[in-house]
Amino acid sequence: MNRQPSDLTTAHRGPMAGADSLIVVENLIKAYEGRVDLALKGITLDVKEGECFGLLGPNGAGKTTLMGCLLGLLNPDGGKLTVAGLDPNDLAVREVIGFLPERPHFESWFTAQEFLTYHHSLSGLDKASRKTDVVDMLKRVGLEEAAWTRKTNKFSRGMLQRLGLAQALIGKPKIVFLDEPGSGMDPPGVTLLREILLELKKSNATIVLNSHHLDEMERVCDRVAFIRNGQIQSIKSMSEESDYPHVLRMRFAERLEDQVLNAKFASIAAASGASILEIDPRGARIAVTSGQMASAVIRMCIENQIAVQSASPESTSLEHLFNEMPEFLIGDKPDE
Ligand SMILES: Nc1ncnc2c1ncn2[C@@H]1O[C@H](COP(=O)(O)OP(=O)(O)O)[C@@H](O)[C@H]1O
Ligand SMILES: [Mg+2]
Repeated sequence: MNRQPSDLTTAHRGPMAGADSLIVVENLIKAYEGRVDLALKGITLDVKEGECFGLLGPNGAGKTTLMGCLLGLLNPDGGKLTVAGLDPNDLAVREVIGFLPERPHFESWFTAQEFLTYHHSLSGLDKASRKTDVVDMLKRVGLEEAAWTRKTNKFSRGMLQRLGLAQALIGKPKIVFLDEPGSGMDPPGVTLLREILLELKKSNATIVLNSHHLDEMERVCDRVAFIRNGQIQSIKSMSEESDYPHVLRMRFAERLEDQVLNAKFASIAAASGASILEIDPRGARIAVTSGQMASAVIRMCIENQIAVQSASPESTSLEHLFNEMPEFLIGDKPDE
């Protein structure tokens, strides 16, 4: 995989630096013609500058519809909506956004390089850097050089998804909308996507991300809105949700054969309030009621010469939230 220095970290263009909320949505309503049920039934949320905001929900929840309204591709039937303080239809907004659609469309006569060059020119960036910007981006999304001059109708689904991501980012957008960016990507693609998202975050881009991947959401999102049947059920801040009861899976660097060490581990668990669910010479599974308790166990192990090789929660905080909201996935409708 190519790892090139990318210019994703360069300053983002745009007229509205300093504003707190870049996206404000108030009581947004969207109806599709011929559908009795509203697709969006009064959505209210805001996305802060530099925030990665996730939309999570079953098929048909309204995630793509919400994104369409934010992008000015769909006209809302009620409520208020501003992106960078402007109406989403305002052309000034288009200058600062990048978008990867759920089902990207590629003109089949373009090669990957031509396609990106075209989008670079649309974005109004300096022509002088066009060639290098395009090449850097093709490398950044891990498209092999042999594919750069190939027509996009010869591309696999995963390659198209990479090219779509490149297109979304080529204009150095200040706000990036990604609708299911990991879909159709192979595992290396998913890893690359995660790296790119984290890089975008570092560069203070604002990201709106629709995804089914809890893991992806967990790693990159600052807040996640749980949306279902056109309504937001709750908005969770991932930093606040990091402290939850979970099972910690620990691996020891050395086998814990000796009885003394074993007893030591038992007393550490007892002293910190954790309960041992399973223990064997190579590791243990322990139940903790908070992140603090987990770190206390790890700290005490190290202080007592029990070398901890790794320790990780068995379920992520989003999985935990899902478990707390069993009703959430009920009512999954097929995507139409
Ligand atoms: N173009 C359309 N015409 C009619 N109904 C639509 C259209 N697009 C989406 N819908 C309906 O709106 C609801 C929300 O869909 P969508 O926004 O695609 O959900 P999600 O992206 O969460 O899967 C669903 O009931 C879907 O069937
Ligand atoms: Mg969708």
